[in-house]
Amino acid sequence: PRVVRTRTLQGWKDEGRRWAMLTAYDALTAAVLDDAGVPVLLVGDSAGTTVLGQTSTLAVTVEEMLVLTRAVVRGTSRALVVADLPFGSYQEGPAQALGTGVRMLKEGGAAAVKLEGGAAVAPSVRALVDAGVPVMGHVGFTPQSEHALGGYRVQGRGEDVERLVRDARALQDAGAFAVVVEMVPADVGARLAHELVVPVVGIGAGPGTDAQVLVWTDMAGLGGGRTPRFVKQYADLRGALSAAAQAYVHDVESGAFPAAEHSFEG
Ligand code: KIV
Ligand code: NA
Repeated sequence: PRVVRTRTLQGWKDEGRRWAMLTAYDALTAAVLDDAGVPVLLVGDSAGTTVLGQTSTLAVTVEEMLVLTRAVVRGTSRALVVADLPFGSYQEGPAQALGTGVRMLKEGGAAAVKLEGGAAVAPSVRALVDAGVPVMGHVGFTPQSEHALGGYRVQGRGEDVERLVRDARALQDAGAFAVVVEMVPADVGARLAHELVVPVVGIGAGPGTDAQVLVWTDMAGLGGGRTPRFVKQYADLRGALSAAAQAYVHDVESGAFPAAEHSFEG
């Protein structure tokens, strides 16, 4: 299959064809997901929690994102690779956003960047797009604003709806090629997909968006602990990996591994 471009995604929206997106943080996983036909891979700043063991995404640095992005790009042959701009790397405004965005393409090898926020970041989106850096927006619940939003809460309820729609429109008008909408009521996700020309990618936004995104470790059951309501777990990688590790420990301790077929002759 052909390489996926931002305009491929617009074509799919125009045809009414839904598409899937997953996060990826390393070359091995990216290769598996790419081969499996996932057309868009997001190097999410969720790496802060999934890969780096932090309690939120806030501490993730540009340098860390660049390391992960390069790895994902190397493991990918078809998927469009989108890199998150981490907290603090674009909030100062268009000049800072442009500097970080250019690094993600030039040093990271990403094909696009994602940043969080609505109308307030539209000038930064415009600056990036004008400079040749495709931008995916992100509205609704935006984890980098966890403290301002008062925790992980569904957004776009009641009076917030019109503001959410205005924010998403502002991103589209500024040149964003797609917009992620996180943790909003299903009817709001569907309304956004209907009102925007560009693809709307939902996470916890119901079935009416043009595309869906999940954190791959949630989707594959690798993460421990509680997963959000919007996650569907398609595998139990944590269980599979744990069982494999226990079997290996057992075999080493009992002497069953390595056997003759794993050993060299003189
Ligand atoms: O960092 C991330 O994984 C994300 C997606 C879940 C949208 O931003
Ligand atoms: Na993110």
